Amino acid sequence: MFQLNDKTAVITGGGSGIGKAVALLFARAGARVIVADFNKEAGLQTVGEIEAAGGKASGIFLDVSRQEEVTAAFEQVAAIDILVNSAGISHIGKADTTDEADFDRVYSVNVKGVYNALHAAIPRMKAQGGGVIINMASIASSVGLPDRFAYSMSKGAVLAMTLSVAKDYIGDGIRCNCVSPARVHTPFVDGFIARTYPGKEKEMFEKLSKTQPIGRMAKPEEIAALILYLCSDEAAFITGCDYPIDGGFIKLNN
Ligand SMILES: NC(=O)c1ccc[n+]([C@@H]2O[C@H](COP(=O)([O-])OP(=O)(O)OC[C@H]3O[C@@H](n4cnc5c(N)ncnc54)[C@H](O)[C@@H]3O)[C@@H](O)[C@H]2O)c1
Repeated sequence: MFQLNDKTAVITGGGSGIGKAVALLFARAGARVIVADFNKEAGLQTVGEIEAAGGKASGIFLDVSRQEEVTAAFEQVAAIDILVNSAGISHIGKADTTDEADFDRVYSVNVKGVYNALHAAIPRMKAQGGGVIINMASIASSVGLPDRFAYSMSKGAVLAMTLSVAKDYIGDGIRCNCVSPARVHTPFVDGFIARTYPGKEKEMFEKLSKTQPIGRMAKPEEIAALILYLCSDEAAFITGCDYPIDGGFIKLNN
């Protein structure tokens, strides 16, 4: 079950965290993996780990917020059967404490970056007769989180783009879903804790772990497993859905 033999999967943000876990798992499931990241060193590291394990992978290096770069990089890929949009950045702030430059930066990576990848990949999928798209949304897409104004704006847009794409291309054999994790233990979270709470890293890690009723953060591999299922033929009936994977955050935090 859940094999991706003969499929080519482009994974933005495949150099780190959830995107990297997806890249490693997809390669084990038989996919040819294209790691798309602007951190060349990290992207090549993922490619190297896949090849060392006997899998097939290559890298394309691009800033997802720049349409020309995304289009040119995706043109280098022979076929795109699966697109996983995992590249993303975080931001802390409320509406009155978020400055314009930060708002624009979060928008350009988390919203426009997803649009750019969709814009480049969908014509290819249509021409091939279908494809599967997974976007990384978040619990912030549908729940009010404290101090996450710009980030929530961006993840709400990811959820809306997911529904729009699922509707528009259902007749082209393209399935599009999103995944909404609560906190996942990745460099994204470690970096945020180190920047925001210097000297209190351990205490804050414990505190943030407990915001999930299950008492811990997710592992990137747990998110990757859900994404593998959603991209497999076993999930052929699933489109236009948002999948929380949140240790009980949305429904049990009361
Ligand atoms: N970690 C969490 O708790 C969590 C929870 C919910 C949703 N998410 C979402 O999951 C996705 C992945 O998060 P992660 O925790 O794995 O992050 P991460 O920081 O570990 O990895 C993100 C990757 O994206 C790449 N990237 C960033 N900006 C880019 C750009 N402009 N162009 C190309 N590549 C770029 C980075 O180089 C990095 O390799 C993000 O969209 C994030 O919002 C994360």
